[in-house]
Amino acid sequence: MDVVLEGLRRLEYRGYDSAGIAVVAGESIQSRKKSGKLANLVNELAARPLPDALTGIGHTRWATHGGPTDVNAHPHLADGGKLAVIHNGIIENFAELKAALLAKGHTFTSETDTEVAAVLMGDFYRARAAKGADENTLTNAMSDACQQLEGAFTLLAIHAENPNTVVAARRNSPLVVGLGDGENFLGSDVSGFIDYTRRAVELGQDQIVTITPDNVEIIDFAGNPAAGKEYLVDWDAAAAEKDGFPSFMEKEIHDQPDAVAATLLGRSDINGRLTLDELRIDPERLKSVNKIMVLACGTSAYAGQVAKYAIERWCRIPTEVELSHEFRYRDPIVDANTLVVSISQSGETMDTLMAVRYAREQGAITLAVCNTNGSTIPRESDAVLYTHAGPEIAVASTKAFLAQITATYLLGLYLAQLRGNMFHGEIKDVLADLGKIPAKIAKILANAEQIKELARSMADAKSVLFLGRHVGFPVAMEGALKLKELAYIHAEGFAAGELKHGPIALIEEGQPVVVVVPSPRGRDSLHAKVVSNIQEIRARGANTIVIAEEGDEAVRAYAEHVFYIPESPVLLAPLLTTVPLQIFACELATSKGYDVDQPRNLAKSVTVE
Ligand code: F6R
Repeated sequence: MDVVLEGLRRLEYRGYDSAGIAVVAGESIQSRKKSGKLANLVNELAARPLPDALTGIGHTRWATHGGPTDVNAHPHLADGGKLAVIHNGIIENFAELKAALLAKGHTFTSETDTEVAAVLMGDFYRARAAKGADENTLTNAMSDACQQLEGAFTLLAIHAENPNTVVAARRNSPLVVGLGDGENFLGSDVSGFIDYTRRAVELGQDQIVTITPDNVEIIDFAGNPAAGKEYLVDWDAAAAEKDGFPSFMEKEIHDQPDAVAATLLGRSDINGRLTLDELRIDPERLKSVNKIMVLACGTSAYAGQVAKYAIERWCRIPTEVELSHEFRYRDPIVDANTLVVSISQSGETMDTLMAVRYAREQGAITLAVCNTNGSTIPRESDAVLYTHAGPEIAVASTKAFLAQITATYLLGLYLAQLRGNMFHGEIKDVLADLGKIPAKIAKILANAEQIKELARSMADAKSVLFLGRHVGFPVAMEGALKLKELAYIHAEGFAAGELKHGPIALIEEGQPVVVVVPSPRGRDSLHAKVVSNIQEIRARGANTIVIAEEGDEAVRAYAEHVFYIPESPVLLAPLLTTVPLQIFACELATSKGYDVDQPRNLAKSVTVE
């Protein structure tokens, strides 16, 4: 039980509206489950402990079918209480299956699609057991059930009659096996068992795995033998802890110098030539690319929007950025000369996965920029460029965002190198500038107190607007998203030039407006235009909070508050200007007493459409 509970603690960021555990105890299954955070289950277990057991499963839930109640929490029991099942994903044909099972006389206690899978499996188990049960009955029942299930699922099952066995299956939903010594593990990702083993096996699509203390056996849904891919986990357990910060989010904001540095590491040689051999896409194919489409959701999509400015500038390839869920449903034009770059921290975002699949079907070259090794999106893409930000536990993305910008910039430079769009010296200069970014982020972090103090003073703000131009525009939108999701304050990010086309009507006395100002050393017009925007809003009573480059004295006269960031080339500025906005949102939410690691209604991996 303790092992399962510890695993749930590490995986709680994946969903946290209820939690439950089931163990095989003697002839029966015993389970405890509770709505709300894991702490509620811990209290329940203290009040009603589970018996000692060697086999158990546990789950933290993010509700899809049926609200977050005790009854709907997993595990779900079937086969007269002898079978326990947990599930991630959505079973799309659960209504038909449920009707058929009801007609056969089965009953249900919850509203979940998971219970339908459990009852279906129980039905198959009994049918097989009637002909003679053996140690394969649970695996066979899982295989029977999987052949009827449609949708996305990871299922885990235990049965009182197979006391040493856990059987699991996956389709379009994550599952990894941990190989121990006289013990084996399963988890949605390796953090669930990292305290016990670093040897992991990545399962393929539509596979079933049966684990006992000394054996792991993989088959496909039809029962044919299959194999997974073994690898060694290079995260250490400490990397997944908070390092003494009050929240994972704050820790991860402070991880950013390392995240950027690690993402740059090993990607260029000493002569400043990019060496992205890991892509393993035929360079001739990449040279033929005449359009790039970046697909992503949320923060990752803002990283894509930043990347667009750099890629178009450096490679002269038209680049579109689209939200994955919009892309799929509008008949997009992609062909063999389109490079589709998906950006996903988790590598499991269902909207992005589906968009990548669609693009691949159309013949596009698919490249994943991803932070999670072995996750589904990179596995289903032609190539992957990993961001090496390390595990991101806080729901709100921070270090993954900066690592995504860094990785997509490397990709842009690599394409420019391959296609001869930039001189070698130019690429080398950009790489050298990128190499200086981690120290500059560290400098901003060291001066965080000023922005924190302002954030604390603004806990009562009802709405905050964010303005930016050029690469500062997606940064403004990212700043607004962070504030919305963490502090539950209405926030919008606008292109500063759009102000006079409508949003300026929102400005009234005292309205806080955060303005991301481009470097005065860049194109003059850009800086001057934003300074005029600040004047326009200030004249209408806005409380102006300005993020500007060190030495930019021109903004001081128009700003209520100025935060200076170190100098950098215009295109690299988002790697710096984002940081104060993250700190601002994190501190403001903390001062309101909110849990910044697990904001309400959100989940870290959105594995449903
Ligand atoms: C916001 C946030 C989300 C994710 C989005 C995509 O802070 O974290 O907007 O960026 O759900 O997730 P990934 O990158 O895992 O595909």
